[in-house]
Amino acid sequence: MIEQLKTKLNEIENTYISKLQNCASSKDLQDLQVESLGRKGALTELLKSLKDLSLEEKKAFGPLSNEVKNKLTALFEEKAKVLEIEEINKTLNATDIDLTLPAFPFEKGKRHPLEIAKKRMTDILKGLGFVWAQGPLVEDEYHNFDALNIPAHHPARDMQDTFFIKNTQKKDFVLRTHTSGVQIRTMQKQKPPIRIIAPGRVFRKDALDATHSPVFNQIEGLYIDKNVSLADLKRDLTLFMKGLFGPKAQVRFRSSFFPFTEPSVEVDVKCVFCEGKNPTCPVCKGSGWKEMLGAGIVHPNVLRNCGIDPEVYSGYAFGMGVERLAMFSLNIKDIRNFYDNDVRILEQF
Ligand code: PHE
Repeated sequence: MIEQLKTKLNEIENTYISKLQNCASSKDLQDLQVESLGRKGALTELLKSLKDLSLEEKKAFGPLSNEVKNKLTALFEEKAKVLEIEEINKTLNATDIDLTLPAFPFEKGKRHPLEIAKKRMTDILKGLGFVWAQGPLVEDEYHNFDALNIPAHHPARDMQDTFFIKNTQKKDFVLRTHTSGVQIRTMQKQKPPIRIIAPGRVFRKDALDATHSPVFNQIEGLYIDKNVSLADLKRDLTLFMKGLFGPKAQVRFRSSFFPFTEPSVEVDVKCVFCEGKNPTCPVCKGSGWKEMLGAGIVHPNVLRNCGIDPEVYSGYAFGMGVERLAMFSLNIKDIRNFYDNDVRILEQF
């Protein structure tokens, strides 16, 4: 009995060794491996007859069959590698690929033009000694309006009436209409000297057109210390504009009104496209100037609302629209170009 099995084992070994050596594809090789060593393969079937052997015979035959199994397994593995390399070579030869050619250029992403503009602005302001501050996008009415000297009845609210959010605390929240609320939050937490900028998104109930968007970005600035005056504001904002538009940039301060600053100014920059020389300039509409931002000396009521004594401290604040400045410096005519995310337009900056 055992002799018969040994002969069969030998036969299996020899048949499959010669078969696998002649095998020409990975697929055939896999089939062959299943056929010989698989769960229902020739060797497994043979081992089933072991049950008819005596214990002695089993002990003698077991290691023999294991040896064959290991030998075949190793040969299959070796052959699989050989076939794989052969097949790769065959495909490469057939497809005519030149592996020595450089690869196709990889499309790298880059910063969004708004981010580029925002970073340039904040870098200049950091150079002037301002540090970064933050506030929530969903703001309460107190920080967005009341504390900034804009009580509920004040007409200035109409200009910025926005998206109100009813809250379970029975307190009204708004999507902040400007970054000025960060002034309040900072002064409530921190004693002067204060010198912060607060860049971020703001929201207004404006329809989307070439120059308006219901969501846009502002950078707020606040400087509070002893003896801060309009002269400091003019110096710092002039330096900022020269940093942004070049040393030849000309800046003009016009008086204006904001409830939270007194006096208030609006800051214009001489049109960088026509320098005021083209009466039909499409950018400045022939006026020669472009309005850039609002600013002013912080109103004593605002300081008082934050526990700062206006007899001791004073300061200035400004708020600028990032899109507006970016459109002017990059000559982008339509604010929607920033948000449409058309890569053909964005990649030009
Ligand atoms: N918050 C004002 C606006 O959004 C801008 C501003 C900020 C004006 C600070 C003065 C001082 O229009």
